[in-house]
Amino acid sequence: MDYAISTQNLTKQFGNFTAVKDVSIQIKPGEIYGFLGPNGAGKTTLIKMLCGLLAPSSGSAKVLGMDLLKETEAIKNKIGYMSQKYSLYDDLTVIENLEFYSSIYGIPSKIKKDKINEMIKMADLRGRENDLTSTLSSGFKQRLALGCSIISSPSIIFLDEPTSGVSPTSRRMFFEIIHDLAKNGITVIVTTHFMDEAERCHKIMFISEGKLMAANTPTHLKKNVLKGILVELTMDHAMEQINRIEALPYISECNIHGAFLHIILKDKSHIGKLEELTGGSAKIITPSLEDVFLALSKQKKAGDIL
Ligand SMILES: Nc1ncnc2c1ncn2[C@@H]1O[C@H](COP(=O)(O)OP(=O)(O)OP(=O)(O)O)[C@@H](O)[C@H]1O
Ligand SMILES: [Mg+2]
Repeated sequence: MDYAISTQNLTKQFGNFTAVKDVSIQIKPGEIYGFLGPNGAGKTTLIKMLCGLLAPSSGSAKVLGMDLLKETEAIKNKIGYMSQKYSLYDDLTVIENLEFYSSIYGIPSKIKKDKINEMIKMADLRGRENDLTSTLSSGFKQRLALGCSIISSPSIIFLDEPTSGVSPTSRRMFFEIIHDLAKNGITVIVTTHFMDEAERCHKIMFISEGKLMAANTPTHLKKNVLKGILVELTMDHAMEQINRIEALPYISECNIHGAFLHIILKDKSHIGKLEELTGGSAKIITPSLEDVFLALSKQKKAGDIL
């Protein structure tokens, strides 16, 4: 099996509205693959189709070598899904949630205890087995939800914004766990709005208004997406100047980054002119994934950097 997931022109329409349009991607086994894109871009819809929870309107896909349309039930038995809203039972304890999911997935009683212990260890929940889930902090809840979704030893795990609302320390720990899973051959699909997490994916794809804009490694995208020279401009009252600067003929894009402006110039020779006009100081910088994200969000047509 070359690919854990391979889609061809996968499309989802809700009435007249196209939420996912002609998405073709390939994901290798053991890869950590990030789905990125603005709110409403179609990430969750795509994940739900790949999990067999939502029927595609057109297109096709193979998941673990199986046909998504014809072998949906067999696929469901081999994957784990952690939804954007954790499906944990607040009024059950940690161990009761894990037991509940073990029975849903039909884990044989012989191995159930070992599996639950393995998840407790993975989630660093030892000593909290009998705590009510409602009393756990977000970071612990998140790891418990992960435990519940991988207790059946899936080959692919879909994590839809698993780290929203948790602290940077917990987010880091979560990604370390994800990396361990991938090292053991599990394919991880993860959606995130955090660029540091996107950096830690082997590959990422950007989706915008349902269309696939680009898919490649973070390094490749940083090198190839931006067309022009990226400069960081330090100037007073940057916020108020943004529209005026963006209107200049030699500028392709202008975005605010903290106290600075990130500007894409068509040519290096315009740096002097820009400094003169704004009274600021400009230096050429290497694009970050955030710059890539903003550029792709504004792009109307699908990219060719696949
Ligand atoms: N069942 C549905 N019926 C109609 N429209 C829907 C349905 N589900 C999703 N949509 C629409 O499809 C688009 C894509 O939604 P989706 O939830 O996939 O986006 P997303 O990329 O996951 O966004 P977010 O980052 O906010 O989670 C949105 O405009 C959403 O309103
Ligand atoms: Mg979503």
